[in-house]
Amino acid sequence: MFNLILFGPPGSGKGTQSEKLIAKYGLKHLSTGDLLRSEIANQTPLGVEAKKLMDKGQLVPDEVVIGMISSALDTNPEAKGFLFDGFPRTAAQAEALDKLLELKKTSIAVMLALNVTEEELVKRLMKRGETSGRSDDTNENVIRARITEYHNKTAVVADYYKNFDKVVMVKGEGTVNDIFSSLSAEIDTRI
Ligand code: AP5
Ligand code: MG
Repeated sequence: MFNLILFGPPGSGKGTQSEKLIAKYGLKHLSTGDLLRSEIANQTPLGVEAKKLMDKGQLVPDEVVIGMISSALDTNPEAKGFLFDGFPRTAAQAEALDKLLELKKTSIAVMLALNVTEEELVKRLMKRGETSGRSDDTNENVIRARITEYHNKTAVVADYYKNFDKVVMVKGEGTVNDIFSSLSAEIDTRI
């Protein structure tokens, strides 16, 4: 199994690059943001609660996303590997993920961290907000709140994996294809 975390702040290109990476490497894409938006679309109780926090740019509780990832791992026993996008986002989530993977006798091979300046992040998300229908993209204050949550709670996740020497920083600005090539080169040396 080859398990990869694609890491980076909101708007850094995790979703864009994940689509291309899963097609190339045959990994199962697990995006907690996408899983939560599907709960919202289905108007489940979990989705209704999560939406209140997501609309403010705040993280949903750890136990909610850990539960979603745990069941996704269980329902995909045949996967060649997983690409985690937007998860883990707190130190507690990282520790929980390690334990879940250990139960499956596997682990994280590498964290690829996309590096993008804050001004570029805001510009990308404001632009997407014109058409995406994502309520957390429509207002600059919410976009900035998401970036603040990232600095306060999520940036430490990279430190967690640095302790295990698993973090590789990748330039996240430039063309989508150039960034994809850089990510692929890092994966190719490890897979
Ligand atoms: P989530 O869905 O994970 O969103 P996010 O991390 O805020 O990031 P985005 O999905 O907006 O950005 P991205 O990095 O995927 O970039 P993308 O490829 O889309 O989370 C949403 C919310 O859910 C959170 O705020 C939280 O409330 C909750 N949540 C989710 N996971 C959670 C967790 N684990 N714990 C707790 N709460 C959780 O690209 C962005 C834009 O830029 C697009 O328009 C794209 O076309 C464009 N773009 C991409 N690459 C380039 C490029 N190279 N040049 C120019 N434009 C580009
Ligand atoms: Mg995304």
